Amino acid sequence: MASSPLLPFLPFLLLLLLLLLLPPEVPAAARASPLETLPEGAAACEARGLCLQVPPRKSQAPPVNVSLYYETLCPGCRAFLVRELFPTWLMVLEILNVTLVPYGNAQEQNVSSGWEFTCQHGEEECKLNKVEACLWDQLEKNLAILTIVCMEEMDDMEKNLKPCLQIYAPEVSPDTIMACAMGDRGMQLLHVNAQLTDALQPPHEYVPWVVVNGKPLKDPSQLLSLVCHLYQGEKPDVCQPMASSQREVCFK
Ligand SMILES: *[C@@H]1O[C@H](CO)[C@@H](O)[C@H](O)[C@H]1NC(C)=O
Ligand SMILES: *[C@@H]1O[C@H](CO)[C@@H](O)[C@H](O)[C@H]1NC(C)=O
Ligand SMILES: *[C@@H]1O[C@H](CO)[C@@H](O)[C@H](O)[C@H]1NC(C)=O
Repeated sequence: MASSPLLPFLPFLLLLLLLLLLPPEVPAAARASPLETLPEGAAACEARGLCLQVPPRKSQAPPVNVSLYYETLCPGCRAFLVRELFPTWLMVLEILNVTLVPYGNAQEQNVSSGWEFTCQHGEEECKLNKVEACLWDQLEKNLAILTIVCMEEMDDMEKNLKPCLQIYAPEVSPDTIMACAMGDRGMQLLHVNAQLTDALQPPHEYVPWVVVNGKPLKDPSQLLSLVCHLYQGEKPDVCQPMASSQREVCFK
């Protein structure tokens, strides 16, 4: 790839992230402490002054399940992850239960040493699928999402594992993740993802394949509105229809 198709969206994402990281206007006590919501990320959070503050859910209704079945190098998967799932997650993470399942259209074979995988975009994709499966396994889930999105935005994902981890989970060494990916653990994790993918009902037809509360999402651009619609509890502000006063433009 000469230049990443996702690069133009980077400023937008950084802005979103910055907004999220800015000190909240509500009193700190009214929000969940990052220590409560991110036990494993707490150290990183304090050391860098970067805190993902998860607003408390307004009610006890169960979160909406959103599972993404994808391949690390498939352009449509990267676009969906970075442009649809990530912004939606940033806006309503308190009512979402996101699951990332890297595997997609890969195939597996039972060999004497375990499992061997064949990936649509070659060996490199199998390796990166394992890297992201290992991140998902070893990081707190919110930090795993941030780290995986950070990598998927970049041209050279493997090279960017280290800087992405340094931002979001500096206490986790890239060597540990690579050792997982290249070893037995990575193989087992990808095998589990193969089983999850093969068990899909209805089966996936393409990737990215998105399942929301058990049903395939046909229109990726409708993710936020569907999640808002499905959530049974009191909805986050961003789900409320805009009041006409909020649509008023301001003339000079
Ligand atoms: C979130 O999704 C995971 C994986 O699908 C599932 O095991 C877990 O029970 C879900 N959590 C909630 C609160 O629904
Ligand atoms: C893999 O194949 C071997 C022999 O062909 C068999 O004994 C083993 O149960 C298989 N493993 C799985 C997980 O299917
Ligand atoms: C989310 O998935 C979990 C685990 O499969 C399930 O127990 C829960 O009921 C699901 N939540 C919703 C809202 O469907």
